[in-house]
Amino acid sequence: MDKLVVHGGATLRGSINISGSKNASLPILAAAILTGEDCIIRRVPDVSDTNYMIQILSALGADVERSSGTVRISCAEVIDEAPYELVRRMRASICVMGPLLARKGRCVVSLPGGCVIGDRPVDLHLRGLEALGAKVEFEGGNITLTAPNGLRGAEIDLRGTHGPTVLGTDNVMMAATLAEGITVIESAAAEPEVLDLANFLNAMGAKITGAGTRRIVIEGVKELHGVEHTVIPDRIEAGTFMAAAALAGDGVTLRRVCREHLKTITAAIVQSGHRVDFNEAGDTCTVYRGETLQGLEISTAPYPAYPTDMQAQMTALLVTTPGISVIKDTIFPQRFMHCAELKRMGADIKVDNGTAVVRGVAQLSAAPVMASDLRASAALVLAALTAKGATEISRLYHIDRGYEHIDEKLLMLGANVERVKDR
Ligand code: EPU
Repeated sequence: MDKLVVHGGATLRGSINISGSKNASLPILAAAILTGEDCIIRRVPDVSDTNYMIQILSALGADVERSSGTVRISCAEVIDEAPYELVRRMRASICVMGPLLARKGRCVVSLPGGCVIGDRPVDLHLRGLEALGAKVEFEGGNITLTAPNGLRGAEIDLRGTHGPTVLGTDNVMMAATLAEGITVIESAAAEPEVLDLANFLNAMGAKITGAGTRRIVIEGVKELHGVEHTVIPDRIEAGTFMAAAALAGDGVTLRRVCREHLKTITAAIVQSGHRVDFNEAGDTCTVYRGETLQGLEISTAPYPAYPTDMQAQMTALLVTTPGISVIKDTIFPQRFMHCAELKRMGADIKVDNGTAVVRGVAQLSAAPVMASDLRASAALVLAALTAKGATEISRLYHIDRGYEHIDEKLLMLGANVERVKDR
């Protein structure tokens, strides 16, 4: 297991490219199951989650080639059972369920277990697929869905207690592309990653309108065909580097971003006193650390509101921002594991009932800390950039799930980081 050692105090400068979105790539890779023809997908980030998805597709029978950011997938023949050993490693593998069911009329996937950021049930995915006519059975930790006579369009409301579901919307939308008749998804997730998937599916011949809003309408078609697609920029990777630049930068430029997707993250960084300048096209931004800083109140909520996937990183920025900040996570109220580790570095944080109250301190000090999930690990790396001394972050595999070459990108910006093999 690798560790990251971050020597705090270096000033970040220069520019880097932001990678393609991990969370857009995962369902798009799975959507290739919907056709027997070749799909070519560009800017797929080289992270362990996309590699797991590629392994799952290969195990299902797909022929997959990966060369740098481009993945070519051919699903001429696929089987309908996803292997437990691969599926259990990544919760997002649940998004093979919709396409497999639509293509094969049956699918077996293992029920995802608990996860460190919360309970994460799949009841809404199943409710949606049942509405399309699938029969759902549970046995031996697996979910089996069957629709021997094909799927039929339906009106489905996907709202859960914490709002819409991103991968649930993806699963139902993918299954509905090959259903007979019209499907309407109400309370759909409107995240840019859902829209990117819909664009991919439409390019394959699907008839989807309304993606990116709360109401998606899908007119079923008989078959889909091969396609070439470029994945959208990763707004969470961009936001993470924006926070790094605000913490420790002196003019850090991020290329290949999308201003529209970064609105609430930019607003939070600017409101806390930093400067963010976008070019006219909105695909490059430069972040300057501010001089007069202030605490913030942030509440995560579904897009277009502030994203839960940038909650931990913003907390890391705010622990050394003067004043009181209040950070509430309405989507995953238990997603505060990073706070205990940040406290070991000297942060003043109280977490209660899905809300962290942060009192800004002047500086953190290095300590050995442990990554607990993807975004929590990013928060620890950010905190370590300005901490006094060398912070050792163990269990780095969490960060490698979703950040492409994060240590190399930080090194390019002048950070003093080194990846070491844990003994
Ligand atoms: N929920 C249910 N029932 C369901 C599905 C979800 O109650 O059947 C609840 C969840 O427990 C949560 C809320 O609904 O409280 C939203 O969860 P959602 O289903 O939207 O999450 P997801 O689709 O499993 C994706 C991202 C997550 C991101 C969430 C929320 C991918 C691969 N994952 O997960 O990304 O936090 O949406 O925006 O797209 C990450 O990248 O670090 C990450 C965890």
